[in-house]
Amino acid sequence: MDSEPRIYGYTRAACTILTHVVCILFTILITVLSRPGSSWFSWHPFLMTLAFSFFMTQAILVFSPHGSPVRMFPHKSKGRVHWILQCLCLTCAAMGFAAIVYNKHLAGKAHFTSWHGLTGLVTVCVAGLQCSAAVSLIYPSLVKGWSLAKLKRYHAAAGLLTYLLGSGSLFLGISSVWFIASVGEIAWYLAALCPALSSLVIMSQATNAYMAKKRLQS
Ligand code: HEM
Repeated sequence: MDSEPRIYGYTRAACTILTHVVCILFTILITVLSRPGSSWFSWHPFLMTLAFSFFMTQAILVFSPHGSPVRMFPHKSKGRVHWILQCLCLTCAAMGFAAIVYNKHLAGKAHFTSWHGLTGLVTVCVAGLQCSAAVSLIYPSLVKGWSLAKLKRYHAAAGLLTYLLGSGSLFLGISSVWFIASVGEIAWYLAALCPALSSLVIMSQATNAYMAKKRLQS
């Protein structure tokens, strides 16, 4: 780390801060457009964006050494903040999922017929599995024959996959007729950059952290 030119550290910090800003602005934009409470449907984009753009991004960035608001906290406290945020993410995702399924049921429409609906279903199931499996990190004795280090590695890899699925579902959600009609095509391009940019930053930070660990080990 010390031998790295300083500019790398500044760039990473700038990207992390930009990701915080982009995810918060994106959540605000969807909240304003969907006007939660105005209909059953309105809860769906609002709760899903809150879950995957806000809570999940913040939960992952908690561990970022660049630009995390809790970077001075001990690792144990960061872990606690992380799982609280992930529980909030899963709660919002479950409620957002229930809202759209109920809304479609009321309208008498068939379920999971679009790419967004299918990807969304997979995302919510994977997020649920990921959170359930994460209990083994708090109680490692539940899983016999697996070291904590191995559990953490699998948890991190599966977590990144869940994040990519969440960003993909958000991207397909904002590609819906409803969203494009609400904001127009030019604003859509700008909005579509949000999940793309946040996934890129999260992936590059994870790769970077992995490489730094490998360098330390060798
Ligand atoms: C990660 C976030 C999201 C997930 C997991 C998700 C999940 C889903 C699922 C499972 C359905 C299908 C429900 C059914 O067929 O019964 C659905 C439908 C829908 N969602 Fe999302 N959603 C997400 C974000 C969004 C966002 C941000 C928007 C709008 C900006 C949106 C707009 C829609 C619309 C318009 C439908 C109805 C049309 C269709 O089935 O494709 N979603 N969503």
